[in-house]
Amino acid sequence: MDTFLSGRKFDRYDDLERRPFEGALKRAQALISAAKDEALGQSFHPELTGAMRYALAGGKGLRAFLVLESARMNGVDTRMSLGPALAIECIHAYSLIHDDLPCMDDDDLRRGQPTVHRKWNEHTAVLAGDALQTLAFDLLCQPGYADPRVQVKLVRTLAIAAGHNGMVGGQMMDIAAESRETPYSLTQIKQVQQGKTGALIRWSARAGALLADANDAKWQALDTYGECLGLAFQIWDDVLDVEGDAEEMGKAVGKDETRGKATFVSHMGLDGAKKYAAELVHNACTALDIYEEQGECLREAARFVISRRV
Ligand code: IPE
Ligand code: IPE
Ligand code: MG
Ligand code: MG
Ligand code: MG
Repeated sequence: MDTFLSGRKFDRYDDLERRPFEGALKRAQALISAAKDEALGQSFHPELTGAMRYALAGGKGLRAFLVLESARMNGVDTRMSLGPALAIECIHAYSLIHDDLPCMDDDDLRRGQPTVHRKWNEHTAVLAGDALQTLAFDLLCQPGYADPRVQVKLVRTLAIAAGHNGMVGGQMMDIAAESRETPYSLTQIKQVQQGKTGALIRWSARAGALLADANDAKWQALDTYGECLGLAFQIWDDVLDVEGDAEEMGKAVGKDETRGKATFVSHMGLDGAKKYAAELVHNACTALDIYEEQGECLREAARFVISRRV
């Protein structure tokens, strides 16, 4: 019998011939889209489930892709990595719902659609975010996709990445920056970005090595890759906030300066931030040397992060 999230309706990501990054990203998006419907099912409050489903739709799926690809590189097939891939997208979706709330960034548009609190209301947004967070841990605890010892590691590392020393801590610092009299130092800005965005991306890149119980060198390579990529990703998000096209991106631009956010762009200017992001991407790519040509799709992903327009 098919186990949870392993039904035949999910084409296997790793059965496909090696494909360039963009194809792999699309594939990851499709897998997540199909898996989310099975994972969500129905709740005793359909409106809540509806808001959760809505929040999981329409993103780039980069974090899911990182889980699936880092797993593939380590010989773990999609049957084993789909649950963790969906789990990180649940945490990401929850972080976005809460990020957009009036008490946070107060945004009306996300992925080209009204934000959850705009489409429903604030309490639905708060609770849909909460439920997506717990769903992520439920997914990681599903039996059968990995050794229970590995599952505990996945749960614990995700809890740390998403918590007070990771995403939530970074978000707290990000909001605090808006009302500070003295701007953050470069070290503090780095801490904000590594926390609010870097930690989840870093977890995603490491997940494949964890799932495979890979050796230290292979784990370390993905950890360094994820650390550099996570920071570069947020720097580019901040660049796009200045240079991006709101319609194309499906979210408002120019918010960071208006709200007094502490970003690499506010600290070192656009050119300095772009240069730093490019250095990080270079470091991310070379960190994967140990994976040789198997690392090419992730290297392409890193180059995408600092050339993307959305
Ligand atoms: C946006 O993340 C928020 C940040 C952490 C910078 P993404 O740019 O990955 O958002 P989606 O999932 O593609 O919408
Ligand atoms: C969002 O950062 C980070 C998290 C959701 C954890 P931003 O506030 O810069 O993201 P956007 O620009 O609203 O997508
Ligand atoms: Mg924010
Ligand atoms: Mg925001
Ligand atoms: Mg932003």
